[in-house]
Amino acid sequence: MSQTLATVITGASSGIGEALACQLAAKEKQALVLVARRQDKLANLAAELRTKHGVRVEVIGLDLEQVGAATQLVAAVEALGLSIDMLINNAGFGLNDNFGDMAIDRVQGMMQLNMVALTELTHAVLPSMRERKQGRIMNIASVAAFQACPNFAVYGATKSYVLMFSEALAAEEKKNGIKVIAVCPGATATAFHDVAGNHGTFLTKIMDTPETVAKTALCAMKCGCPMVVTGLMNKPLPFFIRLMPRQCVTWMAGKLAAR
Ligand SMILES: NC(=O)c1ccc[n+]([C@@H]2O[C@H](COP(=O)([O-])OP(=O)(O)OC[C@H]3O[C@@H](n4cnc5c(N)ncnc54)[C@H](OP(=O)(O)O)[C@@H]3O)[C@@H](O)[C@H]2O)c1
Repeated sequence: MSQTLATVITGASSGIGEALACQLAAKEKQALVLVARRQDKLANLAAELRTKHGVRVEVIGLDLEQVGAATQLVAAVEALGLSIDMLINNAGFGLNDNFGDMAIDRVQGMMQLNMVALTELTHAVLPSMRERKQGRIMNIASVAAFQACPNFAVYGATKSYVLMFSEALAAEEKKNGIKVIAVCPGATATAFHDVAGNHGTFLTKIMDTPETVAKTALCAMKCGCPMVVTGLMNKPLPFFIRLMPRQCVTWMAGKLAAR
Protein backbone atom coordinates (compact mmCIF):
# COMPACT_ATOMS: atom_id res chain seq x y z
CA MET A 1 0.00 0.00 0.00
CA SER A 2 1.48 3.37 -0.99
CA GLN A 3 1.75 5.75 1.92
CA THR A 4 1.38 9.53 1.85
CA LEU A 5 4.74 11.27 2.02
CA ALA A 6 5.24 13.83 4.76
CA THR A 7 7.68 16.35 6.19
CA VAL A 8 8.31 16.12 9.92
CA ILE A 9 9.52 19.30 11.62
CA THR A 10 10.67 19.17 15.23
CA GLY A 11 10.49 22.39 17.22
CA ALA A 12 7.74 23.79 14.97
CA SER A 13 5.94 25.70 17.73
CA SER A 14 8.09 28.83 17.33
CA GLY A 15 11.05 30.51 15.65
CA ILE A 16 12.91 28.86 12.78
CA GLY A 17 10.79 25.67 12.90
CA GLU A 18 7.56 27.66 12.60
CA ALA A 19 8.99 29.68 9.69
CA LEU A 20 10.05 26.46 7.93
CA ALA A 21 6.54 25.04 8.39
CA CYS A 22 4.91 28.17 6.90
CA GLN A 23 7.23 28.25 3.89
CA LEU A 24 6.92 24.51 3.20
CA ALA A 25 3.12 24.62 3.46
CA ALA A 26 3.03 27.47 0.93
CA LYS A 27 5.55 25.97 -1.52
CA GLU A 28 5.56 22.18 -1.40
CA LYS A 29 2.01 21.34 -0.32
CA GLN A 30 3.36 18.07 1.15
CA ALA A 31 1.69 16.80 4.33
CA LEU A 32 3.34 18.27 7.43
CA VAL A 33 3.82 16.81 10.90
CA LEU A 34 4.57 19.48 13.50
CA VAL A 35 6.33 18.35 16.68
CA ALA A 36 7.09 20.16 19.96
CA ARG A 37 5.98 20.15 23.61
CA ARG A 38 3.48 23.05 23.37
CA GLN A 39 0.62 21.29 21.61
CA ASP A 40 -1.69 24.34 21.76
CA LYS A 41 0.77 26.44 19.73
CA LEU A 42 1.17 23.63 17.20
CA ALA A 43 -2.61 23.22 16.90
CA ASN A 44 -3.08 26.95 16.16
CA LEU A 45 -0.34 26.92 13.54
CA ALA A 46 -1.73 23.74 11.96
CA ALA A 47 -5.22 25.25 11.70
CA GLU A 48 -3.80 28.40 10.07
CA LEU A 49 -1.76 26.41 7.51
CA ARG A 50 -4.68 24.13 6.61
CA THR A 51 -6.95 27.13 5.99
CA LYS A 52 -4.37 29.18 4.08
CA HIS A 53 -2.78 26.48 1.94
CA GLY A 54 -5.14 23.48 1.97
CA VAL A 55 -2.40 21.10 3.12
CA ARG A 56 -2.68 18.18 5.52
CA VAL A 57 -1.07 19.18 8.81
CA GLU A 58 -0.79 16.84 11.79
CA VAL A 59 0.37 17.73 15.28
CA ILE A 60 2.35 15.59 17.74
CA GLY A 61 3.01 16.93 21.25
CA LEU A 62 6.21 15.30 22.49
CA ASP A 63 9.16 16.06 24.77
CA LEU A 64 12.18 15.01 22.72
CA GLU A 65 14.45 15.23 25.76
CA GLN A 66 12.86 12.01 27.04
CA VAL A 67 14.77 8.79 26.40
CA GLY A 68 13.00 6.83 23.64
CA ALA A 69 11.15 9.87 22.25
CA ALA A 70 12.51 9.37 18.72
CA THR A 71 11.07 5.83 18.49
CA GLN A 72 7.78 7.13 19.87
CA LEU A 73 7.67 9.90 17.25
CA VAL A 74 8.38 7.62 14.28
CA ALA A 75 5.68 5.19 15.49
CA ALA A 76 3.19 8.06 15.87
CA VAL A 77 3.89 9.27 12.31
CA GLU A 78 3.46 5.72 10.93
CA ALA A 79 0.18 5.39 12.83
CA LEU A 80 -1.07 8.43 10.90
CA GLY A 81 -0.42 6.49 7.66
CA LEU A 82 2.44 8.79 6.73
CA SER A 83 5.92 8.01 5.46
CA ILE A 84 8.70 10.48 6.22
CA ASP A 85 10.11 12.02 3.03
CA MET A 86 11.72 14.99 4.76
CA LEU A 87 12.96 15.17 8.34
CA ILE A 88 13.83 18.54 9.81
CA ASN A 89 15.69 18.18 13.10
CA ASN A 90 15.26 21.72 14.34
CA ALA A 91 14.26 21.45 18.03
CA GLY A 92 17.11 22.56 20.24
CA PHE A 93 18.15 24.96 22.95
CA GLY A 94 21.25 26.54 24.44
CA LEU A 95 22.25 27.80 27.88
CA ASN A 96 24.49 30.83 28.36
CA ASP A 97 26.54 30.28 31.53
CA ASN A 98 29.80 28.86 32.80
CA PHE A 99 29.60 25.08 32.45
CA GLY A 100 30.43 24.50 36.13
CA ASP A 101 27.49 26.67 37.20
CA MET A 102 24.87 24.84 35.11
CA ALA A 103 22.44 22.31 36.58
CA ILE A 104 23.55 18.95 35.23
CA ASP A 105 20.01 17.84 34.38
CA ARG A 106 19.62 20.85 32.01
CA VAL A 107 22.97 19.96 30.40
CA GLN A 108 21.85 16.35 29.96
CA GLY A 109 18.52 17.53 28.49
CA MET A 110 20.35 19.76 26.02
CA MET A 111 22.62 16.93 24.88
CA GLN A 112 19.68 14.54 24.63
CA LEU A 113 17.64 16.98 22.50
CA ASN A 114 20.35 18.58 20.37
CA MET A 115 22.29 15.37 19.62
CA VAL A 116 20.71 12.09 20.75
CA ALA A 117 17.12 12.65 19.56
CA LEU A 118 18.43 14.09 16.28
CA THR A 119 20.69 11.07 15.71
CA GLU A 120 18.03 8.51 16.64
CA LEU A 121 15.40 10.16 14.43
CA THR A 122 17.82 10.28 11.51
CA HIS A 123 18.67 6.59 11.98
CA ALA A 124 15.00 5.65 12.12
CA VAL A 125 14.05 7.38 8.85
CA LEU A 126 16.96 6.14 6.71
CA PRO A 127 15.69 2.60 5.89
CA SER A 128 12.48 3.77 4.19
CA MET A 129 14.27 6.65 2.46
CA ARG A 130 16.88 4.21 1.11
CA GLU A 131 14.14 1.89 -0.10
CA ARG A 132 12.46 4.75 -1.99
CA LYS A 133 15.87 6.07 -3.14
CA GLN A 134 14.62 9.48 -2.09
CA GLY A 135 14.63 11.55 1.07
CA ARG A 136 15.76 14.79 2.66
CA ILE A 137 17.21 15.41 6.11
CA MET A 138 17.81 18.93 7.38
CA ASN A 139 19.69 19.29 10.67
CA ILE A 140 19.82 22.72 12.29
CA ALA A 141 23.32 23.34 13.63
CA SER A 142 24.66 26.87 14.27
CA VAL A 143 27.64 29.12 13.58
CA ALA A 144 28.56 28.10 17.15
CA ALA A 145 29.60 24.79 15.54
CA PHE A 146 32.77 26.23 14.00
CA GLN A 147 34.72 27.10 17.16
CA ALA A 148 34.86 26.61 20.93
CA CYS A 149 32.31 28.87 22.65
CA PRO A 150 33.03 29.99 26.23
CA ASN A 151 29.69 30.50 28.08
CA PHE A 152 28.16 28.15 25.51
CA ALA A 153 30.63 25.30 25.97
CA VAL A 154 28.14 22.43 25.77
CA TYR A 155 25.74 24.07 23.32
CA GLY A 156 28.59 24.88 20.90
CA ALA A 157 29.89 21.32 21.20
CA THR A 158 26.45 19.83 20.49
CA LYS A 159 26.23 21.95 17.34
CA SER A 160 29.75 20.91 16.24
CA TYR A 161 28.48 17.34 16.54
CA VAL A 162 25.42 18.16 14.41
CA LEU A 163 27.59 19.79 11.73
CA MET A 164 30.18 16.98 11.51
CA PHE A 165 27.56 14.23 11.69
CA SER A 166 25.44 15.82 8.95
CA GLU A 167 28.29 16.50 6.54
CA ALA A 168 29.55 12.91 6.90
CA LEU A 169 26.02 11.55 6.41
CA ALA A 170 25.52 13.73 3.31
CA ALA A 171 28.57 12.05 1.75
CA GLU A 172 27.45 8.54 2.82
CA GLU A 173 23.85 8.82 1.63
CA LYS A 174 24.36 10.63 -1.69
CA LYS A 175 24.55 7.27 -3.52
CA ASN A 176 21.15 6.37 -2.03
CA GLY A 177 19.43 9.48 -3.38
CA ILE A 178 19.13 11.07 0.07
CA LYS A 179 20.03 14.72 0.56
CA VAL A 180 21.39 15.75 3.96
CA ILE A 181 22.14 19.33 4.94
CA ALA A 182 23.49 21.05 8.05
CA VAL A 183 22.11 24.56 8.44
CA CYS A 184 24.25 26.99 10.42
CA PRO A 185 22.32 30.11 11.40
CA GLY A 186 23.93 33.05 13.13
CA ALA A 187 22.01 34.94 15.82
CA THR A 188 18.32 34.86 14.85
CA ALA A 189 15.46 36.76 16.48
CA THR A 190 13.58 33.92 18.22
CA ALA A 191 12.72 32.74 21.73
CA PHE A 192 16.06 30.90 21.71
CA HIS A 193 17.67 33.93 23.37
CA ASP A 194 15.06 34.03 26.20
CA VAL A 195 15.64 30.34 26.92
CA ALA A 196 19.44 30.67 26.73
CA GLY A 197 19.61 33.87 28.81
CA ASN A 198 21.35 35.83 26.07
CA HIS A 199 19.88 39.26 26.68
CA GLY A 200 22.51 41.94 27.16
CA THR A 201 25.03 40.08 24.96
CA PHE A 202 26.40 41.32 21.63
CA LEU A 203 24.75 38.28 20.01
CA THR A 204 21.30 39.85 20.30
CA LYS A 205 22.33 43.16 18.72
CA ILE A 206 22.44 42.02 15.07
CA MET A 207 19.97 39.27 14.28
CA ASP A 208 18.44 37.68 11.19
CA THR A 209 14.76 36.90 11.03
CA PRO A 210 13.65 33.25 11.27
CA GLU A 211 11.93 33.71 7.89
CA THR A 212 15.24 34.61 6.19
CA VAL A 213 16.98 31.64 7.82
CA ALA A 214 14.21 29.27 6.70
CA LYS A 215 14.27 30.62 3.13
CA THR A 216 18.06 30.22 2.82
CA ALA A 217 17.93 26.74 4.36
CA LEU A 218 15.23 25.47 1.99
CA CYS A 219 16.96 26.99 -1.03
CA ALA A 220 20.30 25.36 -0.09
CA MET A 221 18.61 22.00 0.47
CA LYS A 222 17.03 22.20 -2.98
CA CYS A 223 20.49 22.85 -4.49
CA GLY A 224 21.90 19.77 -2.74
CA CYS A 225 24.41 21.67 -0.56
CA PRO A 226 25.65 19.59 2.42
CA MET A 227 26.05 22.75 4.55
CA VAL A 228 24.87 26.33 4.54
CA VAL A 229 25.71 29.30 6.75
CA THR A 230 22.78 31.72 6.81
CA GLY A 231 23.11 35.52 6.86
CA LEU A 232 25.46 37.55 4.67
CA MET A 233 27.56 38.68 7.65
CA ASN A 234 28.07 35.08 8.82
CA LYS A 235 28.97 33.48 5.50
CA PRO A 236 32.74 34.25 5.59
CA LEU A 237 33.02 33.07 9.22
CA PRO A 238 34.17 29.46 8.63
CA PHE A 239 36.85 30.71 6.24
CA PHE A 240 38.28 33.38 8.59
CA ILE A 241 38.19 31.02 11.57
CA ARG A 242 40.56 28.67 9.73
CA LEU A 243 43.05 31.48 9.19
CA MET A 244 43.07 32.81 12.76
CA PRO A 245 44.88 31.31 15.83
CA ARG A 246 42.44 29.01 17.67
CA GLN A 247 42.89 30.72 21.05
CA CYS A 248 42.09 34.08 19.48
CA VAL A 249 38.89 32.68 17.92
CA THR A 250 37.85 31.17 21.28
CA TRP A 251 38.47 34.49 23.03
CA MET A 252 36.35 36.38 20.48
CA ALA A 253 33.51 33.86 20.72
CA GLY A 254 33.54 34.28 24.51
CA LYS A 255 33.34 38.07 24.18
CA LEU A 256 30.31 37.84 21.88
CA ALA A 257 28.42 35.69 24.40
CA ALA A 258 29.44 37.63 27.53
CA ARG A 259 26.61 39.36 29.41
N1 LIG B 1 17.97 31.71 17.40
C1 LIG B 1 19.27 31.64 17.17
O1 LIG B 1 20.01 32.62 17.33
C2 LIG B 1 19.86 30.34 16.67
C3 LIG B 1 21.14 30.39 16.10
C4 LIG B 1 21.71 29.21 15.65
C5 LIG B 1 21.02 28.02 15.74
N2 LIG B 1 19.78 27.99 16.31
C6 LIG B 1 19.09 26.70 16.41
O2 LIG B 1 17.86 26.78 15.74
C7 LIG B 1 16.97 25.78 16.26
C8 LIG B 1 15.61 26.40 16.49
O3 LIG B 1 15.69 27.36 17.51
P1 LIG B 1 14.94 28.76 17.44
O4 LIG B 1 15.96 29.81 17.32
O5 LIG B 1 13.84 28.72 16.46
O6 LIG B 1 14.41 28.85 18.96
P2 LIG B 1 12.95 28.70 19.58
O7 LIG B 1 12.03 29.69 19.00
O8 LIG B 1 13.16 28.69 21.05
O9 LIG B 1 12.49 27.26 19.09
C9 LIG B 1 12.91 26.07 19.68
C10 LIG B 1 11.91 24.99 19.33
O10 LIG B 1 12.35 23.74 19.90
C11 LIG B 1 11.26 23.18 20.63
N3 LIG B 1 11.76 22.40 21.76
C12 LIG B 1 12.55 22.84 22.78
N4 LIG B 1 12.74 21.85 23.66
C13 LIG B 1 12.05 20.78 23.20
C14 LIG B 1 11.84 19.45 23.68
N5 LIG B 1 12.37 19.05 24.84
N6 LIG B 1 11.07 18.61 22.95
C15 LIG B 1 10.51 19.01 21.80
N7 LIG B 1 10.67 20.25 21.28
C16 LIG B 1 11.43 21.11 21.98
C17 LIG B 1 10.43 24.38 21.10
O11 LIG B 1 9.08 24.01 21.31
P3 LIG B 1 8.38 23.71 22.73
O12 LIG B 1 8.94 24.67 23.72
O13 LIG B 1 6.94 23.90 22.43
O14 LIG B 1 8.72 22.28 23.02
C18 LIG B 1 10.53 25.29 19.88
O15 LIG B 1 9.55 24.95 18.95
C19 LIG B 1 17.64 25.23 17.51
O16 LIG B 1 18.23 23.97 17.22
C20 LIG B 1 18.72 26.25 17.82
O17 LIG B 1 19.82 25.68 18.49
C21 LIG B 1 19.19 29.13 16.78
